[in-house]
Amino acid sequence: MYMKLIGPFKQIIPMTGLSLKGSISDDELNIVEDGGILVDGEHIKSVGKYADLLVKAKEVSAELVELKGNHVCLPGLIDSHTHICYSGSRANDYAMRNAGKTYLEIAKAGGGIWDTVTQTRKASKEELVKGIIKRAKRHLLNGVTTIEVKSGYGLSVDEEIKMLRAIKEANTVLPTDLIPTCLAAHMLPRDYPGTAEEYLAEISTVLFPILKEKGLTNRIDAFIEEGAFTKKMITPYFEKAKEMGFDITVHADQFSTGGSEVAVGFNAISADHLEASTSKEIELLAKSNVIATALPGASIGLGCTFTPARQLLEAGGALAIASDHNPGSAPMGDLLTQASILGTFQKLTNTEVWAGITFRAAAALNLSDRGQLKGGFLADFILFHTDNNQEILYNQGAFKPCMVWKKGELVYDKHKS
Ligand code: NIG
Ligand code: FE
Repeated sequence: MYMKLIGPFKQIIPMTGLSLKGSISDDELNIVEDGGILVDGEHIKSVGKYADLLVKAKEVSAELVELKGNHVCLPGLIDSHTHICYSGSRANDYAMRNAGKTYLEIAKAGGGIWDTVTQTRKASKEELVKGIIKRAKRHLLNGVTTIEVKSGYGLSVDEEIKMLRAIKEANTVLPTDLIPTCLAAHMLPRDYPGTAEEYLAEISTVLFPILKEKGLTNRIDAFIEEGAFTKKMITPYFEKAKEMGFDITVHADQFSTGGSEVAVGFNAISADHLEASTSKEIELLAKSNVIATALPGASIGLGCTFTPARQLLEAGGALAIASDHNPGSAPMGDLLTQASILGTFQKLTNTEVWAGITFRAAAALNLSDRGQLKGGFLADFILFHTDNNQEILYNQGAFKPCMVWKKGELVYDKHKS
């Protein structure tokens, strides 16, 4: 394979040797000073002291990519929950919400999720692909090299397929990896001529086999909430998904509790939102294998309380942090900014924040080949122009990466753009 040695870096933060669950102190953060990364094709061969790797690199005639100045290197960031496949804007929702209008009043005035469904249905697949590419490129500039993308604004068999095809197509032209998820259970479509149970039965019997057959996604999500779907409605839906071998993820406990219990009961990969979770739900999640995902972008977008991240970690839970980037509740879409703000409000250590957007986020997507810098893992890493990793979160997202490497290739260089 074609080998490269990249470095020297003032600090490499490989995010190795840290536990998947529970609190992490900054003393536990492994820092490789004056390090380098030996890359073999798309993967990391080894991470270590630059001087040692230089000897090895010469033995195997690796290309030397020598960097000038001080750099801190971290794993490429992973955004494990987004809705970046959509059309239209919900700027009017935002203005109305801040002017004191309720969820119901906004929906009545033509806003809410259904507004985005209407706009997204009108868009062609090609238009959706363009939108995803535009948003994913912005994420890349923020250091995000893997993005989960949900459907859920189509809400019919054909429209959900259109969305998932658009995500698949965008994935082929972007350096970033897009991980698709089917969120046909986002809400009961207003134009559906039957009950919620009938809608979910149609999706699971007609759409699920197509998702498998066409390789459109391996993940099924549902919004469990008053006004969306109840535990009782979702149970046969998730049973069918499990039976067919899909991974389950849940929009849980956003405004009211109930979703996290379903997530634990179905051994879901992740339960996301959790702003309304109480001690009972936190205990339940902490004892399970479910990754609890905080979505600070939705708290900021809606002006709601943050997920009790500190309490989750103290209870022994695994905490991922994602942007929830969507046109309604989380239009900002800047993961690093949101994660550092969550850290400030929830008193998370820097290491817990980094864990939430690297290896714990990888676990939230059931991916075991990324989120840490070590031999055999994907060569996805980002560089910041500083000699001290603490500078990054301290700047609360205003300090952006200067380089992004994806699968061993330099895909963004601030100095060249
Ligand atoms: O994760 N909670 C439900 N779904 C999205 C919001 C989507 C929208 O408002 O368009 C969320 O916040
Ligand atoms: Fe969401």
